[in-house]
Amino acid sequence: SRSLNLAVIPGDGIGQEVVAQGLKVLSAVLPQDVKLETKEYDLGASRWHRTGETLPDAELEALKGHDAILLGAIGDPTVPSGVLERGLLLKLRFAFDHYVNLRPSKLFPSTATPLAGRPDIDFVVVREGTEGPYTGNGGSLRTGTPAEVATEVSLNTAYGVERVVRDAYERANSRPRKKLTLVHKNNVLVYAGHMWKNIFDRVGQEYPDVATDYLHVDAATIFFVTQPDRFDVIVTDNLFGDILTDLAAAVTGGIGLAASANINPDRTFPSMFEPVHGSAPDIAGQGKADPTATILSVALLLRHLGFDAEAVRVEEAVAADLAGRDGTAATARTTDQIGDALAVRVAS
Ligand code: NAD
Ligand code: IPM
Ligand code: MN
Repeated sequence: SRSLNLAVIPGDGIGQEVVAQGLKVLSAVLPQDVKLETKEYDLGASRWHRTGETLPDAELEALKGHDAILLGAIGDPTVPSGVLERGLLLKLRFAFDHYVNLRPSKLFPSTATPLAGRPDIDFVVVREGTEGPYTGNGGSLRTGTPAEVATEVSLNTAYGVERVVRDAYERANSRPRKKLTLVHKNNVLVYAGHMWKNIFDRVGQEYPDVATDYLHVDAATIFFVTQPDRFDVIVTDNLFGDILTDLAAAVTGGIGLAASANINPDRTFPSMFEPVHGSAPDIAGQGKADPTATILSVALLLRHLGFDAEAVRVEEAVAADLAGRDGTAATARTTDQIGDALAVRVAS
């Protein structure tokens, strides 16, 4: 019989609340013959306060033994900014070589959007996940003095860029529109920017059916708002992808719906699934967080592990649930109620 051995890192703030709903829907959708085992890892702000640890080696090792990781969110106002983000979340993405950070955006028919004309939006951002300005390649001299100097150097390797660009071409090639847009800033970032563009053009010769496009990141933000339907697959740098995918969420129904997958395509390490949003300290503990982003991340997890039919059931349940929302405060449901509703839908 089949099994799914899942690591769960609820993390901080609303991470705890939304992960509970993700697990609810996962248990409800899995076929009877699949044995679901979950192991919860106590990582995040409270662990750090208790022990000073972010991600001890023993836990990093133990995480390797799972089929996948479901993560809520990490980061808390009581912990210095960057300690958990770097020491836990980025450490996992780097250690498990999650070089494809996949962030799909789709405007469901009934969803609220600030966009006029309700264009068809269905694109996926392939965000590089292990390099760029995220590598911690920098430092500060004379810290805190008027003569302070700080650097934060973006690290880009031909190996790292080629593998993520190739993954993006493969995805574009397998989608009906077969269009791939590179987003960078090669009019200013002439070293990394030109390397990305050269590799993008060279790999593109192997994909004659894929139509390509290039946009500077600033212009890309215009088109995310004015013409989001022009995009199919987008490939971009780690930091540009971070910013663009919050914007993508905002124009396709809000950050509460945006899912992501940190994928290790080589399957040497477990991939990790998490909502795009953070721990939302402003609404934590109030039952106000929308768990849909986490539940859609569970769909990405299911598809990654070969449970395609179950992934579709989750996505269809979300579409049906969104169709029934009217968005008024008086009828707004709690985190738990949305999770319950979706668990019922996937089970029926
Ligand atoms: P955030 O995404 O946590 O919150 C931004 C805004 O979106 C807030 O107003 C919040 O209430 C709202 N929001 C987020 N998720 C929501 C949901 N599911 N339903 C309804 N509203 C939602 O971003 P931030 O405030 O910049 O960051 C807070 C903390 O989270 C920081 O410590 C940051 O480093 C961390 N963070 C972690 C992750 C992660 O774990 N992957 C991602 C982003 C930010
Ligand atoms: C995200 C977050 C993270 C990122 C932070 C918390 C390290 O913003 O997952 O989008 O920048 O990748
Ligand atoms: Mn982000």
